[in-house]
Parts: sequence; C-alpha cells; structure tokens
Amino acid sequence: MELSQQEFRDIQTLVRSLCGLVLSDHKTYLVRTRLESVVQGHGLVTFTDYLGRLQQLGAVLMREELVEALTTRETSFNRDTHPFEEFRRLILPALADTIGRRRESCNPTPIARIWSAGCSTGQEAYSLAMAVHHFVGGSPALHLRPDQFPILATDVSIKAITLAKEGRYSERDLDRGLSQEWRTRYFRKGGDVWVANNELRRSIEFRRLNFIGHTITLGPFDVIFCRNVMIYFDVPTRQRLCDQFHQQLNPGGLLILGAAESLCGLKTPLVSEQIGGTWAYRKAIDSRSAD
Ligand SMILES: C[S@@+](CC[C@H](N)C(=O)[O-])C[C@H]1O[C@@H](n2cnc3c(N)ncnc32)[C@H](O)[C@@H]1O
Repeated sequence: MELSQQEFRDIQTLVRSLCGLVLSDHKTYLVRTRLESVVQGHGLVTFTDYLGRLQQLGAVLMREELVEALTTRETSFNRDTHPFEEFRRLILPALADTIGRRRESCNPTPIARIWSAGCSTGQEAYSLAMAVHHFVGGSPALHLRPDQFPILATDVSIKAITLAKEGRYSERDLDRGLSQEWRTRYFRKGGDVWVANNELRRSIEFRRLNFIGHTITLGPFDVIFCRNVMIYFDVPTRQRLCDQFHQQLNPGGLLILGAAESLCGLKTPLVSEQIGGTWAYRKAIDSRSAD
C-alpha cells in the first residue's frame, strides 16, 4: 500500500495531537508497515480513506487503535538496574522516614505514594512493588506495611494496561531483569506463564491515562518514575508534562527519568540530584511541606 508524503504528514500531525508522539520524517516505512494491516482491517484500500475515517467524530476507537499501533511499549523488569537498586537502597528508607514524620504529625494517611507514569505492560510497576515488599519484609523494626507505599501505574495504551493488570509474563519476560530468587518469591508458575502473586498486585492500581489533553490531578506523589516516555515527545509537550509532574509531586518528591532522558532545555524548578548510582530530579522542600 502506498503512503504519500502528504498522507504521512497528516498521520504525523494526528498522532502528535492524540498522544504527543513525534514521528520523525524517516519513520515513513515504520508507519506504513505498522498501519497497513490496520487500514485493511477496516476494509479500506488507501491511507487517504483511512485518514478520512479517522477524522470522523465518532472514530474514537479507531484513533485509539492508531495510538496502539504506533506507540513503543518496550520495557523490562528493573530496566537499567541502577534506578531500581537505588530505589531499594536509598529512596525507600527515605520514604519510610517520610511516613514516620507523617505519622508523628498525625497525618491521617501516613503513606508514601509512587507513580509509574507510562508503565507499559507493568514490569516497571511490579519491579517497584517487589522492591517495596522486599524492603518492608526486611525491616520489621519500622512497623511498616506494603500498602503504605501504594503504586499507581498508568499508560495511554489500553492493551498494555490490560496485560499489566493480568500480571502474566513469559519466562522470557522474566529473564529480562528478574532474579531467580525474586521470581519464585513474587510469582507463581502456571503452565507457560508466571503470574504475579496477589500480594504484589494489591500494591498497584493500574489505570489508563493519556498525558495529552488532560490536566493531571492524580497526586500528590513522593516519587514519580516516568522512564523512556518523554523521549518520544517534542519540547512543548515535555515542558507541559514536566510542569505537571512538578505540580503532582510533594515537596521533597523525586522524578526519575530514563537513562537517555533529562529535563535539559526545559524551564523547571526541579533540581537534578545524584542518588547513589542514579540521577533524579527533586522538588524543593518549602514552607508548605506536606510533612
Ligand atoms: C517505551 S515504553 C516505557 C515503559 C517503561 N516506563 C520503561 O521505562 O520500561 C513508553 C510507554 O509510554 C506510553 N505512552 C506514550 N505516549 C503516552 C501518553 N501520551 N500518555 C501516556 N502514556 C504514553 C506508551 O504507551 C508506552 O507504554
């Protein structure tokens, strides 16, 4: 199926408005190969017909299908290792202190909230949940429970969120980042798949959320993991998202980006900080502290 320059440009514009994804000019081949079967599946023969249908008011599901087809959902457990190591080693103990302070100041819900923003099929959120369970189980003197570190995990992709909620992974998925010890501790094997145990699943709420076109009002959070998501957006979209993350963080809260990402070139009060072997951005603690 032919994809003309004009059709490609129209798809670029539409996709950017729907989910922020910037398709660079050399992605013509990728767009054509990923969308060909989608177009044919609707009984259409040209991309112009497809674009016409996408523009119709009621074509909500078709537009969602387009986003599903073009977003990249590559992920793995404990991706890049170091952010998750430092989450276990340094960030969780600091969050435990924060919960302690909230408890002492008679905060009615002394918890520390974590957000996996752009969680794809859930590996990032389950990695955080395992770290929480491991930390809480290993620190009985702190008198903490895993449910005091609730994790919200969101993604624009309905398919990804559905898989994440199921918490079912292949051996190959687990081989990418999960130790033998943790897989037998937090997953049970059923046939060919490994299923996250109920305790772990109770730590996470999965929800569909598109960063584009919404003012995000899910916070406040103490830690936001938004890894390997902003890389697909243009500068104005990154700026908007960065402002929203700042708003959604508690004073002293952390934003953790992917290894190839930074807030360089954006205007933000978030300050970069080395946390052991990883980097994060911290919101300043001011007099309006939630503690
Ligand atoms: C490459 S994956 C990263 C997954 C995980 N954070 C990691 O680092 O392994 C990027 C995810 O961002 C999601 N995403 C892309 N655009 C989005 C948007 N506008 N709103 C919410 N999620 C979006 C995609 O669906 C995809 O699951």
